[in-house]
Amino acid sequence: MNLKLKAIFLMTLLALSACSGSGKSSDIEGETQKSPSIGWDDQVFGKDFYADLEASNVSRLFVAAGQEAVAAKRGEYLVKHVGACGVCHDGPDGGFLSGGKTVAIDGQEVLVPGVISYNQMGAKSKSVGEMFAAIKGADLPDAETKTKLGHIGYEWLSDQDVVAMLYYLKSVTKEPYTSAGTNMAVGGLGAYVPAPTRSASAEYGRYLGVNFARCTRCHKSEEGYFSDSEPFVGSERYEGRDDNLGPDIRIKSGEVINAWRESDFITYLKTGKTPGAKQIAVSMCPWNYYKGMTEEDMRAIYKLLSKL
Ligand code: HEC
Ligand code: HEC
Repeated sequence: MNLKLKAIFLMTLLALSACSGSGKSSDIEGETQKSPSIGWDDQVFGKDFYADLEASNVSRLFVAAGQEAVAAKRGEYLVKHVGACGVCHDGPDGGFLSGGKTVAIDGQEVLVPGVISYNQMGAKSKSVGEMFAAIKGADLPDAETKTKLGHIGYEWLSDQDVVAMLYYLKSVTKEPYTSAGTNMAVGGLGAYVPAPTRSASAEYGRYLGVNFARCTRCHKSEEGYFSDSEPFVGSERYEGRDDNLGPDIRIKSGEVINAWRESDFITYLKTGKTPGAKQIAVSMCPWNYYKGMTEEDMRAIYKLLSKL
Protein backbone atom coordinates (compact mmCIF):
# COMPACT_ATOMS: atom_id res chain seq x y z
CA MET A 1 0.00 0.00 0.00
CA ASN A 2 2.94 2.29 0.70
CA LEU A 3 4.01 1.50 -2.82
CA LYS A 4 0.58 2.46 -4.06
CA LEU A 5 0.79 5.80 -2.24
CA LYS A 6 4.22 6.38 -3.69
CA ALA A 7 2.94 5.60 -7.16
CA ILE A 8 0.14 8.13 -6.76
CA PHE A 9 2.67 10.73 -5.58
CA LEU A 10 4.94 10.05 -8.55
CA MET A 11 2.02 10.22 -10.95
CA THR A 12 1.09 13.60 -9.47
CA LEU A 13 4.66 14.80 -9.96
CA LEU A 14 4.62 13.62 -13.55
CA ALA A 15 1.31 15.35 -14.17
CA LEU A 16 2.69 18.56 -12.65
CA SER A 17 5.84 18.40 -14.71
CA ALA A 18 3.88 17.71 -17.89
CA CYS A 19 1.83 20.90 -17.57
CA SER A 20 4.38 23.18 -15.89
CA GLY A 21 5.63 26.41 -17.44
CA SER A 22 7.26 25.99 -20.81
CA GLY A 23 4.98 23.22 -22.04
CA LYS A 24 6.75 20.32 -23.68
CA SER A 25 7.66 17.66 -21.14
CA SER A 26 10.74 16.69 -23.16
CA ASP A 27 12.30 20.08 -22.15
CA ILE A 28 12.84 18.71 -18.67
CA GLU A 29 15.08 15.93 -19.82
CA GLY A 30 17.01 18.20 -22.18
CA GLU A 31 17.70 20.85 -19.54
CA THR A 32 18.78 18.30 -16.99
CA GLN A 33 21.40 17.09 -19.41
CA LYS A 34 22.69 20.64 -20.08
CA SER A 35 23.05 21.49 -16.37
CA PRO A 36 23.60 18.27 -14.45
CA SER A 37 24.26 20.11 -11.19
CA ILE A 38 20.54 20.95 -10.92
CA GLY A 39 18.45 18.03 -9.72
CA TRP A 40 15.35 16.72 -11.41
CA ASP A 41 13.05 18.09 -8.73
CA ASP A 42 14.58 21.56 -9.09
CA GLN A 43 13.45 21.48 -12.70
CA VAL A 44 9.92 20.81 -11.60
CA PHE A 45 9.60 23.01 -8.52
CA GLY A 46 12.45 25.51 -8.75
CA LYS A 47 15.28 26.08 -6.26
CA ASP A 48 13.32 28.20 -3.78
CA PHE A 49 10.58 25.64 -3.44
CA TYR A 50 13.15 22.99 -2.58
CA ALA A 51 14.85 25.23 0.00
CA ASP A 52 11.46 26.12 1.52
CA LEU A 53 10.51 22.46 1.68
CA GLU A 54 13.72 21.61 3.48
CA ALA A 55 13.28 24.47 5.95
CA SER A 56 9.67 23.56 6.70
CA ASN A 57 10.58 19.90 7.11
CA VAL A 58 13.25 20.78 9.65
CA SER A 59 10.82 23.00 11.57
CA ARG A 60 8.36 20.07 11.71
CA LEU A 61 10.84 18.28 13.96
CA PHE A 62 10.73 20.79 16.83
CA VAL A 63 8.25 21.81 19.51
CA ALA A 64 8.01 25.38 20.85
CA ALA A 65 10.79 26.45 23.22
CA GLY A 66 9.99 25.43 26.78
CA GLN A 67 7.71 22.57 25.67
CA GLU A 68 10.44 19.93 25.33
CA ALA A 69 9.76 18.21 28.65
CA VAL A 70 5.99 18.15 28.02
CA ALA A 71 6.62 16.58 24.62
CA ALA A 72 9.02 14.00 26.07
CA LYS A 73 6.43 13.00 28.69
CA ARG A 74 3.74 12.41 26.08
CA GLY A 75 6.35 10.63 23.96
CA GLU A 76 7.16 8.25 26.81
CA TYR A 77 3.47 7.41 27.19
CA LEU A 78 3.09 6.78 23.45
CA VAL A 79 6.25 4.66 23.12
CA LYS A 80 5.65 2.54 26.22
CA HIS A 81 1.90 2.08 26.20
CA VAL A 82 -0.07 3.15 23.12
CA GLY A 83 2.55 2.29 20.50
CA ALA A 84 3.83 -0.71 22.46
CA CYS A 85 7.03 -0.23 20.43
CA GLY A 86 8.73 -2.81 22.64
CA VAL A 87 6.59 -5.63 21.24
CA CYS A 88 9.02 -5.58 18.33
CA HIS A 89 11.92 -3.40 19.51
CA ASP A 90 12.63 -4.87 22.97
CA GLY A 91 15.51 -7.35 22.99
CA PRO A 92 14.96 -11.13 23.00
CA ASP A 93 16.13 -10.97 26.65
CA GLY A 94 13.62 -8.20 27.37
CA GLY A 95 16.16 -5.34 27.08
CA PHE A 96 14.29 -2.02 26.76
CA LEU A 97 14.13 -1.13 23.03
CA SER A 98 17.50 -2.80 22.52
CA GLY A 99 16.59 -4.67 19.32
CA GLY A 100 17.68 -8.04 18.03
CA LYS A 101 14.33 -9.84 17.99
CA THR A 102 13.03 -11.49 14.86
CA VAL A 103 9.33 -10.94 14.28
CA ALA A 104 7.06 -12.44 11.64
CA ILE A 105 5.33 -9.67 9.75
CA ASP A 106 2.87 -10.70 7.05
CA GLY A 107 4.73 -13.92 6.42
CA GLN A 108 8.24 -12.40 6.38
CA GLU A 109 10.85 -12.92 9.09
CA VAL A 110 12.15 -9.48 10.01
CA LEU A 111 15.12 -8.64 12.25
CA VAL A 112 14.24 -5.55 14.31
CA PRO A 113 16.93 -2.97 15.14
CA GLY A 114 17.39 -1.29 18.52
CA VAL A 115 15.96 2.18 19.04
CA ILE A 116 17.81 3.43 22.12
CA SER A 117 20.50 0.83 22.67
CA TYR A 118 22.50 0.25 19.57
CA ASN A 119 24.90 -2.50 20.48
CA GLN A 120 22.68 -5.49 19.68
CA MET A 121 22.85 -5.10 15.92
CA GLY A 122 25.71 -2.65 15.49
CA ALA A 123 23.24 0.00 14.36
CA LYS A 124 24.36 3.58 14.84
CA SER A 125 22.58 6.31 16.69
CA LYS A 126 20.23 8.17 14.31
CA SER A 127 19.50 11.86 13.80
CA VAL A 128 15.99 13.01 14.71
CA GLY A 129 15.24 13.50 10.99
CA GLU A 130 16.25 9.95 10.18
CA MET A 131 14.28 8.54 13.09
CA PHE A 132 11.23 10.59 12.15
CA ALA A 133 11.41 9.25 8.59
CA ALA A 134 11.96 5.68 9.83
CA ILE A 135 8.97 5.80 12.18
CA LYS A 136 6.78 7.14 9.38
CA GLY A 137 7.87 4.18 7.28
CA ALA A 138 10.85 5.29 5.16
CA ASP A 139 13.68 2.82 4.58
CA LEU A 140 16.94 4.27 5.90
CA PRO A 141 20.10 3.85 3.80
CA ASP A 142 21.77 1.55 6.32
CA ALA A 143 18.64 -0.33 7.40
CA GLU A 144 19.33 -4.00 7.92
CA THR A 145 16.10 -5.28 6.54
CA LYS A 146 15.10 -2.64 4.01
CA THR A 147 11.52 -3.15 4.92
CA LYS A 148 8.75 -0.80 5.97
CA LEU A 149 6.53 -3.67 6.90
CA GLY A 150 7.06 -3.11 10.61
CA HIS A 151 5.52 0.36 10.51
CA ILE A 152 2.56 0.05 8.14
CA GLY A 153 -0.08 2.52 9.33
CA TYR A 154 2.42 4.85 11.06
CA GLU A 155 2.49 7.14 8.02
CA TRP A 156 -0.77 8.49 9.48
CA LEU A 157 0.63 9.19 12.95
CA SER A 158 0.47 12.92 13.61
CA ASP A 159 3.74 14.82 13.25
CA GLN A 160 3.20 16.10 16.79
CA ASP A 161 3.05 12.58 18.27
CA VAL A 162 6.07 11.31 16.34
CA VAL A 163 8.09 14.34 17.42
CA ALA A 164 6.98 13.76 21.04
CA MET A 165 8.32 10.19 20.84
CA LEU A 166 11.62 11.50 19.45
CA TYR A 167 12.02 13.97 22.34
CA TYR A 168 11.52 11.06 24.70
CA LEU A 169 13.87 8.65 22.88
CA LYS A 170 16.64 11.27 22.64
CA SER A 171 16.20 12.13 26.33
CA VAL A 172 16.72 8.45 27.21
CA THR A 173 19.97 8.28 25.24
CA LYS A 174 20.94 11.75 26.53
CA GLU A 175 21.75 12.83 22.99
CA PRO A 176 21.29 16.45 21.88
CA TYR A 177 18.04 17.19 20.06
CA THR A 178 19.32 19.09 17.04
CA SER A 179 18.51 19.62 13.38
CA ALA A 180 21.93 18.20 12.44
CA GLY A 181 21.71 15.51 9.81
CA THR A 182 18.08 16.10 8.88
CA ASN A 183 18.70 16.57 5.15
CA MET A 184 17.90 13.01 4.17
CA ALA A 185 14.55 13.52 5.81
CA VAL A 186 13.37 15.66 2.90
CA GLY A 187 12.85 12.54 0.83
CA GLY A 188 11.45 10.44 3.64
CA LEU A 189 9.19 12.63 5.72
CA GLY A 190 6.00 12.33 3.71
CA ALA A 191 3.08 14.71 4.04
CA TYR A 192 2.42 16.71 7.19
CA VAL A 193 -0.17 14.94 9.35
CA PRO A 194 -2.09 17.14 11.80
CA ALA A 195 -2.89 15.93 15.32
CA PRO A 196 -6.40 14.52 15.81
CA THR A 197 -8.57 15.79 18.67
CA ARG A 198 -7.93 13.71 21.78
CA SER A 199 -11.15 12.41 23.33
CA ALA A 200 -12.96 9.15 24.06
CA SER A 201 -14.48 9.21 20.56
CA ALA A 202 -14.62 6.46 17.95
CA GLU A 203 -12.62 8.69 15.61
CA TYR A 204 -9.77 9.00 18.07
CA GLY A 205 -10.17 5.28 18.82
CA ARG A 206 -9.52 4.58 15.16
CA TYR A 207 -6.30 6.60 15.30
CA LEU A 208 -5.21 4.70 18.43
CA GLY A 209 -6.41 1.22 17.51
CA VAL A 210 -5.60 1.16 13.79
CA ASN A 211 -2.64 3.52 13.43
CA PHE A 212 -0.90 3.65 16.82
CA ALA A 213 -1.50 0.51 18.87
CA ARG A 214 -2.37 -1.23 15.62
CA CYS A 215 -4.53 -3.93 17.21
CA THR A 216 -5.31 -4.63 13.54
CA ARG A 217 -1.82 -6.05 13.12
CA CYS A 218 -3.19 -9.24 14.66
CA HIS A 219 -6.95 -8.70 14.92
CA LYS A 220 -7.13 -8.04 11.24
CA SER A 221 -9.30 -9.36 8.49
CA GLU A 222 -7.97 -12.35 6.64
CA GLU A 223 -6.97 -10.21 3.67
CA GLY A 224 -4.41 -8.27 5.69
CA TYR A 225 -4.41 -5.20 7.86
CA PHE A 226 -4.43 -2.58 5.16
CA SER A 227 -7.01 -4.04 2.80
CA ASP A 228 -10.45 -2.63 2.08
CA SER A 229 -12.14 -5.33 4.12
CA GLU A 230 -13.35 -4.54 7.62
CA PRO A 231 -10.62 -4.45 10.27
CA PHE A 232 -10.95 -6.29 13.60
CA VAL A 233 -12.84 -9.17 11.99
CA GLY A 234 -10.07 -11.50 13.07
CA SER A 235 -7.73 -13.62 11.07
CA GLU A 236 -7.26 -17.31 10.43
CA ARG A 237 -3.56 -16.87 10.98
CA TYR A 238 -1.70 -14.36 13.10
CA GLU A 239 1.42 -13.09 11.37
CA GLY A 240 1.84 -16.29 9.45
CA ARG A 241 1.79 -18.44 12.58
CA ASP A 242 -0.81 -21.13 13.10
CA ASP A 243 -0.57 -21.20 16.88
CA ASN A 244 -1.76 -17.69 17.50
CA LEU A 245 -5.14 -16.43 16.32
CA GLY A 246 -6.11 -12.79 16.74
CA PRO A 247 -9.86 -13.24 17.18
CA ASP A 248 -12.73 -11.07 15.97
CA ILE A 249 -12.98 -8.19 18.46
CA ARG A 250 -15.88 -6.27 16.92
CA ILE A 251 -18.53 -5.52 19.52
CA LYS A 252 -21.56 -4.65 17.38
CA SER A 253 -21.32 -7.43 14.81
CA GLY A 254 -18.70 -9.80 16.21
CA GLU A 255 -19.35 -12.85 18.34
CA VAL A 256 -16.34 -13.06 20.65
CA ILE A 257 -16.54 -9.94 22.82
CA ASN A 258 -19.96 -8.66 21.73
CA ALA A 259 -21.33 -8.96 25.28
CA TRP A 260 -18.43 -7.03 26.85
CA ARG A 261 -19.23 -3.82 28.68
CA GLU A 262 -16.82 -0.91 28.57
CA SER A 263 -15.58 -1.83 32.05
CA ASP A 264 -14.84 -5.43 30.90
CA PHE A 265 -12.79 -4.08 28.04
CA ILE A 266 -10.82 -1.77 30.36
CA THR A 267 -10.23 -4.64 32.82
CA TYR A 268 -8.99 -6.78 29.94
CA LEU A 269 -6.47 -4.20 28.73
CA LYS A 270 -5.22 -3.72 32.31
CA THR A 271 -4.98 -7.37 33.33
CA GLY A 272 -5.43 -9.68 30.34
CA LYS A 273 -8.47 -11.19 32.07
CA THR A 274 -11.68 -11.70 30.10
CA PRO A 275 -15.12 -11.51 31.78
CA GLY A 276 -15.17 -15.32 31.46
CA ALA A 277 -12.07 -15.35 33.73
CA LYS A 278 -9.81 -16.53 30.92
CA GLN A 279 -6.24 -15.23 31.30
CA ILE A 280 -4.76 -14.20 27.95
CA ALA A 281 -0.96 -14.62 27.70
CA VAL A 282 1.12 -11.55 26.88
CA SER A 283 2.97 -13.60 24.27
CA MET A 284 -0.35 -13.67 22.41
CA CYS A 285 -1.85 -10.23 23.05
CA PRO A 286 0.55 -7.59 24.44
CA TRP A 287 -1.83 -6.16 27.07
CA ASN A 288 1.17 -5.73 29.41
CA TYR A 289 2.11 -2.69 27.29
CA TYR A 290 -1.46 -1.42 26.85
CA LYS A 291 -2.19 -1.62 30.58
CA GLY A 292 -0.55 1.80 31.06
CA MET A 293 -2.93 3.48 28.61
CA THR A 294 -5.28 6.10 30.08
CA GLU A 295 -8.85 4.93 30.58
CA GLU A 296 -9.93 7.68 28.21
CA ASP A 297 -7.80 6.18 25.44
CA MET A 298 -9.10 2.68 26.24
CA ARG A 299 -12.66 4.01 26.05
CA ALA A 300 -11.95 5.55 22.65
CA ILE A 301 -10.94 2.13 21.27
CA TYR A 302 -14.03 0.56 22.87
CA LYS A 303 -16.21 3.20 21.18
CA LEU A 304 -14.70 2.32 17.82
CA LEU A 305 -15.22 -1.43 18.31
CA SER A 306 -18.82 -0.73 19.40
CA LYS A 307 -19.53 0.77 16.01
CA LEU A 308 -18.15 -2.13 13.99
C1 HEC B 1 5.65 -4.79 14.20
C2 HEC B 1 6.99 -4.53 14.65
C3 HEC B 1 7.38 -3.09 14.97
C4 HEC B 1 6.76 -2.21 15.83
C5 HEC B 1 5.53 -2.45 16.70
C6 HEC B 1 7.55 -1.00 15.81
N1 HEC B 1 8.62 -1.13 14.96
FE1 HEC B 1 10.09 0.25 14.64
N2 HEC B 1 10.96 -0.97 13.28
C7 HEC B 1 10.52 -2.24 12.95
C8 HEC B 1 11.37 -2.77 11.91
C9 HEC B 1 11.21 -4.12 11.23
C10 HEC B 1 12.35 -1.79 11.64
C11 HEC B 1 13.46 -1.83 10.61
C12 HEC B 1 12.97 -1.18 9.34
C13 HEC B 1 14.02 -1.14 8.29
O1 HEC B 1 15.00 -1.87 8.38
O2 HEC B 1 13.84 -0.37 7.35
C14 HEC B 1 12.07 -0.67 12.53
C15 HEC B 1 12.84 0.48 12.59
C16 HEC B 1 12.64 1.52 13.48
C17 HEC B 1 13.50 2.67 13.61
C18 HEC B 1 14.81 2.91 12.85
C19 HEC B 1 15.91 2.28 13.65
C20 HEC B 1 17.23 2.19 12.92
O3 HEC B 1 18.25 2.45 13.55
O4 HEC B 1 17.25 1.82 11.73
C21 HEC B 1 12.95 3.47 14.59
C22 HEC B 1 13.51 4.79 15.11
C23 HEC B 1 11.75 2.81 15.05
N3 HEC B 1 11.60 1.63 14.36
C24 HEC B 1 10.92 3.31 16.03
C25 HEC B 1 9.72 2.70 16.43
C26 HEC B 1 8.79 3.29 17.37
C27 HEC B 1 8.99 4.61 18.08
C28 HEC B 1 7.77 2.40 17.50
C29 HEC B 1 6.51 2.52 18.32
C30 HEC B 1 5.67 3.69 18.06
C31 HEC B 1 8.05 1.26 16.64
N4 HEC B 1 9.24 1.49 16.00
C32 HEC B 1 7.26 0.13 16.55
C33 HEC B 1 9.44 -2.92 13.51
C34 HEC B 1 8.55 -2.39 14.42
C1 HEC C 1 0.70 -9.13 18.52
C2 HEC C 1 -0.66 -9.49 18.19
C3 HEC C 1 -1.77 -8.76 18.89
C4 HEC C 1 -1.93 -7.38 19.05
C5 HEC C 1 -1.03 -6.27 18.55
C6 HEC C 1 -3.17 -7.22 19.77
N1 HEC C 1 -3.72 -8.43 20.05
FE1 HEC C 1 -5.44 -8.78 21.14
N2 HEC C 1 -5.15 -10.77 20.98
C7 HEC C 1 -4.18 -11.39 20.22
C8 HEC C 1 -4.37 -12.83 20.29
C9 HEC C 1 -3.50 -13.84 19.56
C10 HEC C 1 -5.48 -13.06 21.12
C11 HEC C 1 -6.08 -14.42 21.52
C12 HEC C 1 -5.26 -15.05 22.58
C13 HEC C 1 -5.87 -16.28 23.14
O1 HEC C 1 -7.05 -16.57 22.87
O2 HEC C 1 -5.18 -16.95 23.88
C14 HEC C 1 -5.95 -11.76 21.54
C15 HEC C 1 -7.04 -11.55 22.38
C16 HEC C 1 -7.64 -10.31 22.60
C17 HEC C 1 -8.89 -10.11 23.31
C18 HEC C 1 -9.71 -11.18 24.04
C19 HEC C 1 -10.62 -11.91 23.11
C20 HEC C 1 -11.17 -13.15 23.78
O3 HEC C 1 -10.74 -14.23 23.40
O4 HEC C 1 -11.99 -13.03 24.67
C21 HEC C 1 -9.16 -8.77 23.25
C22 HEC C 1 -10.36 -8.04 23.83
C23 HEC C 1 -8.08 -8.14 22.52
N3 HEC C 1 -7.18 -9.11 22.16
C24 HEC C 1 -8.00 -6.79 22.28
C25 HEC C 1 -6.90 -6.17 21.69
C26 HEC C 1 -6.77 -4.74 21.53
C27 HEC C 1 -7.82 -3.72 21.93
C28 HEC C 1 -5.56 -4.51 20.94
C29 HEC C 1 -4.93 -3.17 20.61
C30 HEC C 1 -4.92 -2.17 21.65
C31 HEC C 1 -4.93 -5.80 20.72
N4 HEC C 1 -5.77 -6.78 21.19
C32 HEC C 1 -3.69 -5.98 20.12
C33 HEC C 1 -3.16 -10.76 19.53
C34 HEC C 1 -2.92 -9.39 19.50
